Amino acid sequence: MQRDIDRILIPSRQIAERVGELAAELADKYAPAGAERSCELTIVAILSGSLIFLADLIRRLPMRMRIALVTVSSYPAASTKSRGARLLEQITVDVAGRDVLIVDDILDTGGTLRAVRAELARRQPRSIRTCVLLRKPGKAPPDVPADFVGFDIDNYFVVGYGLDFDGLYRNLPDIAVLRPELYTSGPGGDRA
Ligand code: XMP
Repeated sequence: MQRDIDRILIPSRQIAERVGELAAELADKYAPAGAERSCELTIVAILSGSLIFLADLIRRLPMRMRIALVTVSSYPAASTKSRGARLLEQITVDVAGRDVLIVDDILDTGGTLRAVRAELARRQPRSIRTCVLLRKPGKAPPDVPADFVGFDIDNYFVVGYGLDFDGLYRNLPDIAVLRPELYTSGPGGDRA
C-alpha cells in the first residue's frame, strides 16, 4: 500500500492534534463550560469517508449526542470525479427542533453536503451546521458553507484516514497523495 503513495500530506499526529482543536471549537459552540448536559447534539455523518474522523471526533466531545449515518454516492468506483451526489437511503433520525451537525470527510464541489443539508433542512431542525476534516479550494459554491474545517488543502486527490480511492487506502493513518499514475490511466479513468 505504501508504494502507491506519492507523499504524506498530513501526518497522523497532526490530524490528532487538529481533531482535538475542532472538538474544542464544537464544544465551545454547542456546550459552553458547564452547559454540557443542556446540549443534545444530533450528528449526521456521511459514510464511508468520515468514519475514522467521526470515531475520533465524537470521543473528544463532551455533550450528549445522537448519531445517524447516511450513505451518499458521488464517485463511481475507480474515479476521482464526482458525478453528482445522491442519498442512498432515507435519513431516519428525527431532527425536528434539534441542533444538527453534519460531519463529512472532505468538502470538494459541495454536492454531497448540499444534498444532505437539503434533505435535513426539510425536517425543520433548530440549526444545521457542517464540520469537515478537509476542504479543497474554490469549488464549493457559497450556499454550501463549512462551519468547522480541519484543514484547507490544495487540489490533490487524497486518501487515508477514511478516504479511499476505489475502496482502498481508508486504513492509512495519515492523509496522503496517491501516485497520479494510479488514477490518471487505466479502465474507468476519466480522471483528469
Ligand atoms: P463533493 O464534491 O460532493 O465531494 O463536495 C465530497 C465527497 O467526495 C469525495 N471526495 C474525495 N474522496 N479523496 C477522496 O477519497 C479526495 O480527494 C476527495 N475529494 C472528494 C468524498 O467522499 C467526499 O465526501
